[in-house]
Amino acid sequence: MNLCVIGTGYVGLVAGTCFAESGNDVICVDIDERKIADLRSGKVPIYEPGLEELIRRNMADGRLRFTSDLATAVKEGMVCFIAVGTPSDIDGSADVRMVLQAAADIARTMPGYRIIVLKSTVPVGTADQVRETMAEYTVHPFDVVSNPEFLKEGAAVEDFMKPDRVVIGGNSERALSLIKELYAPFVRTENPILVMDNRSAEMTKYAANAFLATRISFINQVANLCEKVGADVAEVRRGIGFDRRIGHYFLFPGVGYGGSCFPKDVRAMIRTAEETGMNFSLLREVEAVNERQKYLLVEKVHARFGADLRGRKFAIWGLAFKPRTDDLREAPALVIVEALLKAGAEIAVHDPEALGRARELFGERVSYHRVNYDALSGADALLIVTEWNEFRRPDFSRMRPIMKTPIIFDGRNLYEPAVMQQEGFLYYPIGRVPVVQ
Ligand SMILES: NC(=O)c1ccc[n+]([C@@H]2O[C@H](COP(=O)([O-])OP(=O)(O)OC[C@H]3O[C@@H](n4cnc5c(N)ncnc54)[C@H](O)[C@@H]3O)[C@@H](O)[C@H]2O)c1
Repeated sequence: MNLCVIGTGYVGLVAGTCFAESGNDVICVDIDERKIADLRSGKVPIYEPGLEELIRRNMADGRLRFTSDLATAVKEGMVCFIAVGTPSDIDGSADVRMVLQAAADIARTMPGYRIIVLKSTVPVGTADQVRETMAEYTVHPFDVVSNPEFLKEGAAVEDFMKPDRVVIGGNSERALSLIKELYAPFVRTENPILVMDNRSAEMTKYAANAFLATRISFINQVANLCEKVGADVAEVRRGIGFDRRIGHYFLFPGVGYGGSCFPKDVRAMIRTAEETGMNFSLLREVEAVNERQKYLLVEKVHARFGADLRGRKFAIWGLAFKPRTDDLREAPALVIVEALLKAGAEIAVHDPEALGRARELFGERVSYHRVNYDALSGADALLIVTEWNEFRRPDFSRMRPIMKTPIIFDGRNLYEPAVMQQEGFLYYPIGRVPVVQ
């Protein structure tokens, strides 16, 4: 099938590449000409495990191409995926202007029937808005299919190749059966393709992200309560996780969720409810809990070192909002670093993939370290903010002597308190009894 994908971010690039990998001819479009130039020269603008190799192979085989000329792409691609951003507007609603702009651009240039697939996360009713917008610009027939994406950054290729389910929404049999055909190679293990109406498909994406965010805020508050009453959230998590109605996933306490999806999608769902006159109070609290949780490590640092952190140095391991990505959008680390800087601290950061992006944000205000141990030199404490695998078993005997004081504030509960005590560290985990002497 000939496909065009509009927007080559985390979603569009992964989707386009995976569709090419399953034998389709894919042309990816982006308005960011530098991104397109980079991609054409084999440079992948984001870090996503396995992606670079797939892009190279499919480009070499001629199935994957990149352009900034939308008209050419729409001419060739019978199915046009829209995977542009839908950022939060100031009132919290999802800003769908880029989606509507892309739809209008497709309508203006399409030479005949086209299927528009909405892969961006869009509020309920957007498919209808897209239909209305396109009708203004074209006389050709078209169908609009909602196809929310559930991939996780850090495992995006794997998720796309083996989705738990594919959701497609629409009202045209012809379009829906074509899209089903397109996804058939990815659901060979009988995972379902769920067909529904556009509005239900749009809502499914928000309900999924809002539910996952709710689990995170829930376990974070349980962890905070565990700290107060002397219980261990690691045990509690195991204790509830074996209940099949609950399960183990998304029950790890930490420094709050971040990234380009959960925060904005929770806000957008609150706003959608508000527009109908409904107060989605549960989600408001999920968001408020999350905002507070981002300051938890900072509060622990102040409790230990006082309000004034001038003359103190802190090492931060992990900046990306989750491991295996370089994405810093709404990452809790940003809040933590800013708060510590504001209190006068010196900050040394390490992240396996996100240092380049961090430099764009913090400039010369922090020091950057490619090797995690280098950030520790002379540090009053280490703060662990992202659970990269490489932080799970560090050489503690190498860390202790280079730090000014062997103290770890662990925002991801990577280590066992008893082990830390043996290793001679003061250790502040989340929701577990700390090692304070
Ligand atoms: N990132 C994720 O993990 C994830 C997962 C599921 C769903 N989503 C949703 O998918 C959508 C895209 O997310 P992303 O993280 O890939 O965004 P992104 O910001 O990384 O990428 C969007 C790309 O679209 C391009 N673009 C914008 N307008 C364009 C236009 N008119 N023509 C061509 N290109 C245009 C931008 O230049 C950018 O490269 C969002 O709605 C998001 O909520 C994201």
